Amino acid sequence: MAKATHHFVCQSCGASFPKWAGKCEACGAWNSLLDEPLADGPPKGLNDSARHKGKGRKIDFVPLKGEKRHLPRFLSAIGEFDRVVGGGLVPGSATLVGGDPGIGKSTLLLQVVCKLAQGASVAYISGEEAIDQVRLRAERLGVAEVNCDLASATAVRDIVATLDHAEAPDVLIIDSIQTMYVDTIDSAPGTVAQVRTSAQELIRIAKKRDIAVILVGHVTKEGTIAGPRVLEHMVDTVLYLEGERGHQFRILRAVKNRFGPTDEIGVFEMQDKGLTEVHNPSALFLADRHGDTSGAAVFAGLEGTRPVLVEIQALVAPSSYGTPRRAVIGWDSSRLAMVLAVLEARCGVVFGNNDVYLNVAGGLRVAEPAADLAVAAALISSLTGVPVPSEAVVFGEIGLSGEIRRVAQPELRLKEAAKLGFTQAILPKSDPSAKTKAASGINRTEINRLKDLLPLFGEGGKG
Ligand code: TYD
Ligand code: MG
Repeated sequence: MAKATHHFVCQSCGASFPKWAGKCEACGAWNSLLDEPLADGPPKGLNDSARHKGKGRKIDFVPLKGEKRHLPRFLSAIGEFDRVVGGGLVPGSATLVGGDPGIGKSTLLLQVVCKLAQGASVAYISGEEAIDQVRLRAERLGVAEVNCDLASATAVRDIVATLDHAEAPDVLIIDSIQTMYVDTIDSAPGTVAQVRTSAQELIRIAKKRDIAVILVGHVTKEGTIAGPRVLEHMVDTVLYLEGERGHQFRILRAVKNRFGPTDEIGVFEMQDKGLTEVHNPSALFLADRHGDTSGAAVFAGLEGTRPVLVEIQALVAPSSYGTPRRAVIGWDSSRLAMVLAVLEARCGVVFGNNDVYLNVAGGLRVAEPAADLAVAAALISSLTGVPVPSEAVVFGEIGLSGEIRRVAQPELRLKEAAKLGFTQAILPKSDPSAKTKAASGINRTEINRLKDLLPLFGEGGKG
């Protein structure tokens, strides 16, 4: 049988298959398989002269305990960014910033790099925009005077050759990794093989020269170019810039960080002069809230180390379809199904033939199970028409037997609520052994079981 020279690689997750199919069996993405030439052996990089056949060389072990180089981190003075990367960029690290096209990655990174220029040498390589376009943007952002090296290039071989000397910049931005290519590979820029090998080469030179490199990666839905997922395991830090196009808020979220905590978020607002930091996101997320409407509950959440209050909105309406609809924005739909099931089975609150819509106001995505209780409160409120007290925040995890479980950092959440003028909290029974100081000024309603939530909604809550 002839040896296969091609295979089909999913541009979303990187899995490879001998045959084309409409759907990737590994990640479920549709229409994402692309024909790529099969490399002999592992993908070839630029510096492969060392790849010789025969016996390997012996490696030298060193003790775990030993001298380590201590290089200071680069701080941008944009607090929201520095916190998300774990307290500044680490020299020699690789950071991936992913996000939908047009969400503001280039804008954010140009701002960051220009701030970093005050204490470090920086370079910005754009593969997407011409020099003039970047200059125009810099002018708009008010950073045109900054000392930043700028280049428009896509050939990784040239970039590596330029960087491989002692005066390499401290911080390098590659915008975007999908436009970069290495000439040892036949496939087009943006394919999994190209994106992986380009990133590999850039990361290698970054480690060698202690450059903090930031790679921009577009998230793609169509799957014709490789998404940032195929790089996540190669880099030290993965950040995603999220947000709804219609909203001004942009959330920079750390999903992997070898040098700091994950789940940390930075909140920005897109304005006509670029992204500005939002120091008090809770106030922003609650800005458009109307006090006494039914179907809304304020969730006191935690994003990384920071408490964030958001409004959870629910709408329960009679369905005109045979199968009632369940639509969720900003929360996990299977969690909604669970909360609905527990409400029905354990509390006798029947949603029956009603459509249920759930929305996290402001475009934030909530991933915490601690939001369960706030979701339940919003749902019961919408069903009964009785508003959740407008001065109350709600949090707690719901278990399948209808019990309310404790969540992390209740005092921190309450403190944030008190700061924003809330006076009441509905929360799980506190841990008697916890020695934290209670937040003041908040009237607590501690509940053990989901059933205990119903009396707050009067007789209507009985379903
Ligand atoms: P951009 O950074 O080019 O997105 P990405 O690099 O993620 O593809 O952001 C482009 C969007 O940001 C564009 O829709 C216009 C908007 N924008 C502003 O609203 N204000 C600004 O000052 C700038 C530079 C861009
Ligand atoms: Mg861009």
